[in-house]
Amino acid sequence: MEIIKVKDYDEMSAKACSYIIEKIKQLQAPVLGLATGSTPEGLYKSLIQQYNEQNVSFNDVSTFNLDEYVGLENDDPNSYHFYMNEKLFKHIDIEQNHIHIPNGVAENLDNECQDYEQQIMDAEKVDIQILGLGLNGHIGFNEPGTPFSSRTHIVDLDESTRKANARFFDSIEEVPKKAITMGLDTIMQSKEILLLVSGASKREALDRLLNGDISEEFPASILQQHEHVTIIADKSALEG
Ligand code: F6R
Repeated sequence: MEIIKVKDYDEMSAKACSYIIEKIKQLQAPVLGLATGSTPEGLYKSLIQQYNEQNVSFNDVSTFNLDEYVGLENDDPNSYHFYMNEKLFKHIDIEQNHIHIPNGVAENLDNECQDYEQQIMDAEKVDIQILGLGLNGHIGFNEPGTPFSSRTHIVDLDESTRKANARFFDSIEEVPKKAITMGLDTIMQSKEILLLVSGASKREALDRLLNGDISEEFPASILQQHEHVTIIADKSALEG
């Protein structure tokens, strides 16, 4: 794993942005794996800025998001469909049919998981998967205890994850209890992984990811087994 240490959140976002743009320019039909949450917001802002300055086009880019809540319609402000549209897609030249996000209101959720997994494999895998890090070591919504062999599946969200995400909702009761997520094995199939970590609250999780045992009890530890992981982390996430 390569670790790029940066000063703060803004530098993390700027570095991640140049990293992604470089990849987009190298590849003919880049496939990006995207995350939501607070961590990549600055990256998405920077990508929009670079697009506005005509330094990058997303015309040939396809995207696969990591996850979506079960039960939230696409236009629900807390859905990840809404997040991605507001924070990135509606501002850039990506083709609508190149965007993939699990459908959390599908009639048959098991079929939706299988279809989603198949679409990723049909795209010949994700070239670069962007990840944030959960306080309990989750990546995507793969909570502690998720088998390393998992593919796209339905999860019961941990109480700690629901609490952490309650900041986006009016109350914790409104945070869905289930989500669809790419599995750990799905994530590991990505050709390359870019993990972004910012802030002192993530320090313990990052330390465990870098130095702890590889264990299903700490899902992110699986990344130690991936051959191409780059971590961009700021000082407060890295230093005790
Ligand atoms: C979001 C996702 C999650 C987040 C993680 C960190 O699509 O898959 O794993 O990356 O919960 O969230 P933030 O960035 O809000 O701290």
